[in-house]
Amino acid sequence: MTKNWIDVADVDSVPVDDVIGIDITGKSLALYRVEGEVFVTDNICTHGQARLCDGFLEGFEIECPLHQGRFDIRDGKAMCAPLTQDVQVYPLKIENGRVLIEV
Ligand code: FES
Repeated sequence: MTKNWIDVADVDSVPVDDVIGIDITGKSLALYRVEGEVFVTDNICTHGQARLCDGFLEGFEIECPLHQGRFDIRDGKAMCAPLTQDVQVYPLKIENGRVLIEV
């Protein structure tokens, strides 16, 4: 299957040890930079209508601002209650200072 990459952001726009939300091509995404590496997940929590970019990032875990569910941003794993569903993560590559995700 052909891979489809979309350009979502400048690497430098992703804050170090923090998260930002962006809306692009109908998707709401959360971009993180931890230990020099960039990660991209869906921005909407799998438990309710909360934006993960408004949550609290600690290490590789993002805590949802609404009920404090936590996801591992590396693989999207739901780490604790009340979450029952992992969040989507996107394979990405960095090219010419841009973050591209595979869709
Ligand atoms: S909406 Fe995220 S934990 Fe409930």
